[in-house]
Amino acid sequence: MEKIDRLRHYGLFDAQVPRYTSYPPANHFAPDAGQVQQLNWLRAVPGAAVVSIYIHIPFCRRLCWFCACRTQGTKTRRPVDDYVDVLRKEIASVRATLPAGIRMGRLHLGGGTPTILSARTMQRLLETLFANFKPAETLEFSVEIDPTDASDSVLKTLLAFGMNRASIGVQDFTQKVQAAIGRAQSLEQTRRVVDIVRGAGIGGVNFDLLYGLPHQTTESFAQTLRHVGDLRPDRLAIYGYAHVPWISKRQMLIRTEDLPDNEARLGLAEMTRDVLCDRGYEAIGIDHFAMPDDPLAIAAREGRLRRNFQGYTDDRCAALIGLGASSISRFPHGYVQNQPATSTYLRRIETTGLAGRRGYVMTDHDQLVAMMIEDLMCRFAFREDALREKFPKSEALIRRTAVSLMSRFPDVFFISRGGLKMQPEFRQLVRIVASFIDGFAQAGSSHSSAI
Ligand SMILES: C[S@@+](CC[C@H](N)C(=O)[O-])C[C@H]1O[C@@H](n2cnc3c(N)ncnc32)[C@H](O)[C@@H]1O
Ligand code: SF4
Repeated sequence: MEKIDRLRHYGLFDAQVPRYTSYPPANHFAPDAGQVQQLNWLRAVPGAAVVSIYIHIPFCRRLCWFCACRTQGTKTRRPVDDYVDVLRKEIASVRATLPAGIRMGRLHLGGGTPTILSARTMQRLLETLFANFKPAETLEFSVEIDPTDASDSVLKTLLAFGMNRASIGVQDFTQKVQAAIGRAQSLEQTRRVVDIVRGAGIGGVNFDLLYGLPHQTTESFAQTLRHVGDLRPDRLAIYGYAHVPWISKRQMLIRTEDLPDNEARLGLAEMTRDVLCDRGYEAIGIDHFAMPDDPLAIAAREGRLRRNFQGYTDDRCAALIGLGASSISRFPHGYVQNQPATSTYLRRIETTGLAGRRGYVMTDHDQLVAMMIEDLMCRFAFREDALREKFPKSEALIRRTAVSLMSRFPDVFFISRGGLKMQPEFRQLVRIVASFIDGFAQAGSSHSSAI
């Protein structure tokens, strides 16, 4: 059977599966792990630990039709300024709950569009943050930047506070595609941000692109990749567009008949990989690329790659603390998500100082499955030896899972030292393989396309 038929046989063109940025996926979080759990887990973070901080800014001046992120449109700064005032209260309250001596190893501002903040508001936010969280010596400070909404002054403020990684939204430079996704953005607007950031001596420039958008063809996307190549980002995340209008209502503005089908999506993904690898990037996981000297590429080569809500990371901090509406915290024993609706989040912080709404307490079995899935997503491997070492009581289950994988996906895996590995030509199946060992996935929920 040809490769494409094998991929079809395993469901690549039909399956809807999670992206596994967490295990269990966030749609399985429940209210029983809310604010009380958040309080206990914050208090239990070891003193002197290095933590990661994620701050969510759920506002955009424009709402792109494809976007599945939690954000809302605003034409004025007022709601953004009010939100930041409350965020500063949450920062102080979370800090007061944590033990003394905590340091910040990572800081990520995401959204929405963090650069919608005025320079003054950004300064107030960062002053409060740095006053509460002492940075570790090697702080990585990254910010999601929409090049059409990032003033010189806000970029200057971010740089003054030590931003050293810029995550720039690009998606696609083709005008016809941009018109069909409600996001006009010129090459010059993008180049301007790259020049400012590079001009300040920042080495970490990331681009986000999407394949599977309306009207995209391999030729048009190859042209976008040529423009991208001229700007030489250090790292790229090239996500498959998740068309989930039943979750993200604004996607109803995208005409389904203009979308490439799943076989065309595979063609786009494969062309992208070939072009970027020819240009010297290393492919990382299912959708990231990085220059060989980028820390993510080094982490991948050294087997230190991790997966979190931003995708792939080399972050090894003890806990990830999410601040702001809908943000998710990850603790050693589970997850807590803040109130998703901005208005409820604001009320909860004003009244109680914390806004945990729902989450998940992980059992030992969940921890085992989480490690299996993270290994698959990051290494395309089922590391029996490493799993046994960490979970010695589950030896029989680990063996049974390896046998089931070999029998369910016979030509996908081969036996390698210490476990199983996926054949490189079948790596696109990794989310389907992960869903096979994910106890929750059997219940059937509606996720995005597997490719
Ligand atoms: C918070 S968003 C964008 C940040 C910034 N506001 C911008 O527009 O440049 C982060 C990234 O998520 C990705 N994204 C958004 N909606 C998506 C979808 N439906 N499917 C896949 N990726 C998506 C996009 O690549 C986007 O750049
Ligand atoms: S892609 Fe960025 S600017 Fe567009 S709606 Fe999403 S978060 Fe806002």
